[in-house]
Amino acid sequence: MSLEVTNHAAVVAFCAERGIGLVVVGPEAPLVDGLSDSLRAAGVPVFGPSQAAAQLEGSKGFTKDLCARAGIPTAGYVRTASHDEARAALARFSAPYVLKADGLAAGKGVVIAETLEEAEAALADMFGGGFGAAGAQVVIEEFMEGEEASFFALTDGTTIVSFGSAQDHKRVGDGDTGPNTGGMGAYSPAPVLTPELQARVMAEIIEPTVRTMREEGNPYQGVLFAGLMLTPEGPKLIEYNARFGDPECQVLMMRLKSDLVPILLACAHGELAGAEVALRSETALTVVMAAKGYPGTPEKGGAIDLSGVEPDGAKVFHAGTSLKDGTLVANGGRVLAVTAMGASVTEAQRLAYEAVDKVNFPSGFCRRDIGWREVARERGV
Ligand code: AMP
Ligand code: GLY
Repeated sequence: MSLEVTNHAAVVAFCAERGIGLVVVGPEAPLVDGLSDSLRAAGVPVFGPSQAAAQLEGSKGFTKDLCARAGIPTAGYVRTASHDEARAALARFSAPYVLKADGLAAGKGVVIAETLEEAEAALADMFGGGFGAAGAQVVIEEFMEGEEASFFALTDGTTIVSFGSAQDHKRVGDGDTGPNTGGMGAYSPAPVLTPELQARVMAEIIEPTVRTMREEGNPYQGVLFAGLMLTPEGPKLIEYNARFGDPECQVLMMRLKSDLVPILLACAHGELAGAEVALRSETALTVVMAAKGYPGTPEKGGAIDLSGVEPDGAKVFHAGTSLKDGTLVANGGRVLAVTAMGASVTEAQRLAYEAVDKVNFPSGFCRRDIGWREVARERGV
């Protein structure tokens, strides 16, 4: 049975008919569209923020203004709906220029421009409708130098529980080359986010965010995924996602020792303080196998044979697959996430690629270097 998620009445009716006891609103579009509110109003327990709280992902300007009010470390910025004002504001920054369409743009709303001319062209594109409604406002930011890492926190609006760290690999090619993607692989934990840094992220970024949202009448419930830049002055917020992230979710779920459903229900019911949330200390690493052509137009329909992957070894998460006459075929850009656990990033990487090599997917490809930064550090180079 397939439901149209934009049809809230249909989703609510389905939940009532089947007596659904928990809905997890996963992607950003239905969150920003307020599906959680419609379900909650109908008495259906929901894991995921309200429309107002999902602005933390849905509007970059909203998040920047919140950081300014709450004193949260982030890049200096200008937010404007005026093309003239935006052009004039460029003079207050220097190259590289960071330009962001305010709204959801399927991960394509950020432009890093090396020259003033490129920045002006990107602004013209944004205000000219190149990013649809998302570009009605733009945010211009200071460029931050450092290594990127992600931190996850669960919250019921009041209680906050750490859900670990991860690092992903956004570029399509080995050595972080080529165009950006939704993520070609990830590992968790990210040792670069030391316990000391995680404590700072909690105290300086996550706690003030959750407190301010609550105090301003938009309590945030769900998972808060903080994209961070580890700068010489400390961790700074790049952006929030209002969801687990793909492929970050796969590595976090591999590490979860506790039962997931009671945790999600505790968030939904405002009872996170009593929930048990334990993560394994081992590393999980996932390699995304994509269909050739991704992140452009992916080849659809390519056959996949998983029979060589040992059932007790790695776990293969399906993302863009379907069954055609009993055969597993590719049906999307990012098709599989092949995931393994190990005592170190190096070991998890080795086990994940051993499994990747047993996947028979001739029209697919993957990066061969997921985890490279940490593997180099573990080798001491
Ligand atoms: P986002 O879609 O907001 O995650 O941004 C995409 C990527 O752009 C981030 O993962 C960073 O690599 C980069 N980025 C965004 N904002 C900044 C910034 N202020 N300074 C440096 N890099 C940034
Ligand atoms: N992998 C990043 C995201 O899901 O937004």
